[in-house]
Formats: sequence, structure tokens, C-alpha cells
Amino acid sequence: METTRLFDVANGLFIRIATDDHYIKDAPIKKGTLAWAQSIGNHYSAKNFKDPLEFRPERWEKECDELNPYAYMGFGGGPRSCIGKHLAMLSTKIALVNFVRRYERFEVPEEITLITNFLYEAKPYAATFVKNSK
Ligand code: HEM
Repeated sequence: METTRLFDVANGLFIRIATDDHYIKDAPIKKGTLAWAQSIGNHYSAKNFKDPLEFRPERWEKECDELNPYAYMGFGGGPRSCIGKHLAMLSTKIALVNFVRRYERFEVPEEITLITNFLYEAKPYAATFVKNSK
């Protein structure tokens, strides 16, 4: 959750065409208008997350229990949100568990630079994987 909050791969996905005339606060959205929302604005807002730019996975243990349902949009929101969310989360946990079982630790350079293109990319880094001795 915390990784996709800070580095949301789905940030640019939320494109909709208004099927009726609407208002967002005072802004009129005419029928047929293409509306493109960015989730990152909600993810980086201090109104939603304390110290929003800090990577703090433990914030999801309790602090985020009362979140506005659209504060986190890593898997979308509302009726068209991701149907594969639980499968994706489960697969990630299984991959992580397998990794931790096989390797004692891995070493990476202290600073990793992420580049934002269409998606996020890390520059290639040499990482050392130390196999579990047990
Ligand atoms: C980390 C992995 C994933 C991320 C970050 C992700 C993210 C998203 C997001 C943000 C949406 C909403 C798009 C929108 O509102 O326009 C979405 C929709 C969807 N996702 Fe995922 N997804 C992931 C994995 C999966 C997997 C594993 C499946 C299928 C097994 C899946 C199937 C779908 C489908 C079918 C929709 C469209 C739902 C609809 O329009 O009613 N996703 N996903």
C-alpha cells in the first residue's frame, strides 16, 4: 500500500467521459467532457496522510483506518475499482515471503534514484543478494 501510495503506477489511469452535466464544487463539467484525475494529488496531500512524502508502511496499521475512501487510489476507487486488488496483494506477499525465505539480506546502494517516465523506473543498480544459510 505504502509503495503504491508514494509511487503509484496507476496515477494517470483515471480517465472518464462525463455522461451527464455535473459540477465539481463550482466548476461545471459538461456532458461529453473528458476528465482526467490524478491520484498522486490525494496520495501526497497532508490533508489525507501525515508526513505524506515519508515512506512509512506502518502508517497502514492503524493511522489510516479512518481515511476518506478516495484518499488512496492505488487500485482505483468506487464501482470501477480494481477487481484484481486482492490477487495482486496476495501475489506480492507470496513473492516477498519466498524472497525472505531464500535470502538473508540484500544490499543496495544507499540512495536509489527513481525516474518518472510513463511509469516509475529505477536506474540500474548492482545489488548483492546474500543466500540464507539455513
Ligand atoms: C499491483 C497490481 C495492480 C494495480 C496497481 C492495479 C490497479 C488498477 C486500477 C487503478 C484500476 C482502476 C482503473 C480506473 O479506474 O480506470 C484497476 C482496474 C482493474 N484491474 Fe487492476 N491493478 C492491479 C492488478 C490487477 C490484477 C492482478 C487483475 C486481474 C487479475 C486486475 C484487473 C483489473 C480489472 C479487470 C480492472 C477494471 C475494473 C472495471 O473497470 O470495472 N488488476 N486496476
